[in-house]
Amino acid sequence: MAIRDPPADETESAPDAAPDAVAGLAERNAELRDDKRKSAAEVKALREEVRSMTKEIQRLTVELEKVKHPPLIVGSVLDLLVDGRAVIKSTTGPNFVVPVADFVNRDKLVPGTRVSLSQSNLTVVGILPPSRDPHVSGMEVIKKPDVTYAQVGGLERAIQELRETVEYPLTKPEVFTKLGINPPKGVLLRGLPGTGKTMLAKAVANATNATFIRLVASELVQKFIGEGSRKVHDLFQLARDKAPSIIFIDEIDAVGARRTDDGTTSNREVERTLMQLLAELDGFESRGDVRIMAATNRADILDPALLRPGRFDRIVDVPLPSPEGVAEIFRIHTKGMTLDKDVELASLTGKLKAVSGADVAAICTEAGMRAVRAERATITQADLAAGIQKYQKGELHTGHGSPAGIYA
Ligand SMILES: Nc1ncnc2c1ncn2[C@@H]1O[C@H](COP(=O)(O)OP(=O)(O)O)[C@@H](O)[C@H]1O
Ligand SMILES: [Mg+2]
Repeated sequence: MAIRDPPADETESAPDAAPDAVAGLAERNAELRDDKRKSAAEVKALREEVRSMTKEIQRLTVELEKVKHPPLIVGSVLDLLVDGRAVIKSTTGPNFVVPVADFVNRDKLVPGTRVSLSQSNLTVVGILPPSRDPHVSGMEVIKKPDVTYAQVGGLERAIQELRETVEYPLTKPEVFTKLGINPPKGVLLRGLPGTGKTMLAKAVANATNATFIRLVASELVQKFIGEGSRKVHDLFQLARDKAPSIIFIDEIDAVGARRTDDGTTSNREVERTLMQLLAELDGFESRGDVRIMAATNRADILDPALLRPGRFDRIVDVPLPSPEGVAEIFRIHTKGMTLDKDVELASLTGKLKAVSGADVAAICTEAGMRAVRAERATITQADLAAGIQKYQKGELHTGHGSPAGIYA
């Protein structure tokens, strides 16, 4: 008996303890449910947050695109600071220290790099590719100029010299190799305005299969720091790409004038452009298939550095025509018209002193106009005399000494 029933108390106490445990578990369960609910709410809140942040990212991306898109200001890098900012020169005038946007590849930023700047705070937002389009950079590229030697009057000597120094190195390079001689690196045409320098350069290019690349040097005088030297670089690069080619830098005095150190920025910029030009010249093979020519009517003011050996080491003079030359230029320019059989060119040309080819061209045009007005098919001595008279009165605004000649 003692064995069977002793734990009367215990059997009694067990049902007593069970409700407590159940209550505890129920409470715990409720707690956990609560936790779960809270967590779920939290998850929901976080999801919500993620969603709103995603939206914010989208908005900022659009904003960023907008910042990058409105008309950007063009500038050029002057310097890069150790703190990551850049010193830039922009079209707006003074130089600025500006931040560089994170998405810009800093490795490509060097002084002289052309960059785009945001309008609001001039942050550098992009690197501009170099302009290779010759039209943009003021270069004139002609596959084959249509001027021939026959159209150039009274310059036999200059033509001969150009054939030897520019044409043959391109058309018969083997002659130079065989003889072991180097043609001059650069050829400078020197002569008054309107004497036919530009014509000659085109005629030489015509006699070869070379592409003619003409650049008027004043195009190199830019307001951006580094822009002029970049253009020089582009010019020579273009010439290499198009080789065989002839580079012709017209009116080179615009960048090649003797350096006067007045310390102004524009002067330093011109000097920088000239230095780049010298560097490019030095980097060229005189036997290569890119020939370099230049022209000036102010050889007296040229920087001597340009004329050193290995640069423009051959000067070809383009003089005013002799009386015979004048007569020949008259014949060339009246070729398309019919000259009256009584015309005596010699008696006309004798009257003309120090006349340039461009002047003669203008006189011929004037004489031709006079014949057209009189509805004649031929040009008479009187037409030519009238043209000459107009020229002598300074009424034909072309030729040397006149502004028109400068741009011819
Ligand atoms: N020697 C010449 N023979 C024929 N025409 C000439 C001559 N020199 C000049 N001209 C005429 O004058 C124009 C201008 O000549 P250009 O070659 O531009 O002179 P430059 O470059 O020396 O200033 C030519 O388009 C041509 O009509
Ligand atoms: Mg010219």
